Amino acid sequence: MFYPAIRKVLFQFDAETIHELTIKGLKSTGSSPLNAFYKQRVAEKPVKVMGITFPNPLGLAAGLDKNGECINAFDAMGFGFIEVGTVTPRPQPGNDKPRIFRLPEANAIINRMGFNNKGVDYLVSQVRSANFSGVLGINIGKNKDTPEEKAKDDYIHCMRKVYDFATYITVNISSPNTPGLRALQYGDALNELLSALKIEQRNLAKQYNKYVPVAVKIAPDLTEEEVLSIAQCLLDNEIDGVIATNTTLSREGVEQLQHGNEQGGLSGAPVKEKSTTVIRILAKALDNKLPIIGVGGIASSDDANEKLAAWCRLGSSVHWLYLSRSATDKINSKWIIVK
Ligand SMILES: Cc1cc2nc3c(=O)[nH]c(=O)nc-3n(C[C@H](O)[C@H](O)[C@H](O)COP(=O)(O)O)c2cc1C
Repeated sequence: MFYPAIRKVLFQFDAETIHELTIKGLKSTGSSPLNAFYKQRVAEKPVKVMGITFPNPLGLAAGLDKNGECINAFDAMGFGFIEVGTVTPRPQPGNDKPRIFRLPEANAIINRMGFNNKGVDYLVSQVRSANFSGVLGINIGKNKDTPEEKAKDDYIHCMRKVYDFATYITVNISSPNTPGLRALQYGDALNELLSALKIEQRNLAKQYNKYVPVAVKIAPDLTEEEVLSIAQCLLDNEIDGVIATNTTLSREGVEQLQHGNEQGGLSGAPVKEKSTTVIRILAKALDNKLPIIGVGGIASSDDANEKLAAWCRLGSSVHWLYLSRSATDKINSKWIIVK
């Protein structure tokens, strides 16, 4: 109700400053009575995917809570699952500021954050202290200064560190703001990465006596052939799920807007159709053998239903979605989805 007015005020200030203030506020109130300001009861709508029972199918996508500092706050908001990260082995500052740009006319954002995060050890300390018993995805990546040929080591390092604390692990190979990262989506590079991660996952499952599923997050900027080849590689390596999609490099429809040509990944309404197209191709190729997690431009229940239709029409039984909370500016969208 108050959101349009609050949004007007917030939009007077730099996007990242508002984001940081919001994170601080949520961090300090998440497990206090002050969480009554955003706490809400959400109807149970359990869905079982990858062997995990999700209390409801709407979650928080990676990128908003990169360091896992606000898990209790997002839990209070009623998300069916929370994905924290992307986290890298070592802390890193990310790209120079400014690096988030609002495109309000297009309901969009361009970001080139570059995996700014406090490192995997800090994230694990936050997860431990949150004492959260819900579904927690931990999204892992590589440090900027790790050469591409050593990328695998970074993912394995993070996987080992987070394994005991994650309900599922997301392998992010699709952020456009880390040089060379997206190259991991293709051919031998993808196969080598996934087979190494599968071996590690099996070892860790023995060590901890529990199986933590692994999902791979892909880009919307892929040709049909590339999506098909990724789908086959996921199946070959017995990966547990696929998340479609990350932000896009396309500037279709926003070039003429202020900030429309900033470098980085475009998210929000302009990525909606692109991510739905990738989901549609995946659904056909995977033929129910692997769950798909949809993300990109979901800001209402209609948007969510469009994503579901993209694979339900193709006979999938999977009803699993997540809603990007990657931009604090879009914090109102939860009201639309859960009312
Ligand atoms: C500011 C910002 C930071 C993001 N950071 C990450 C990240 O660290 N890891 C990741 O996998 N995705 C990240 N994303 C991508 C989102 O998780 C999501 O895939 C994408 O924004 C599309 O969803 P949307 O249109 O609902 O925002 C980020 C997005 C934004 C806007």
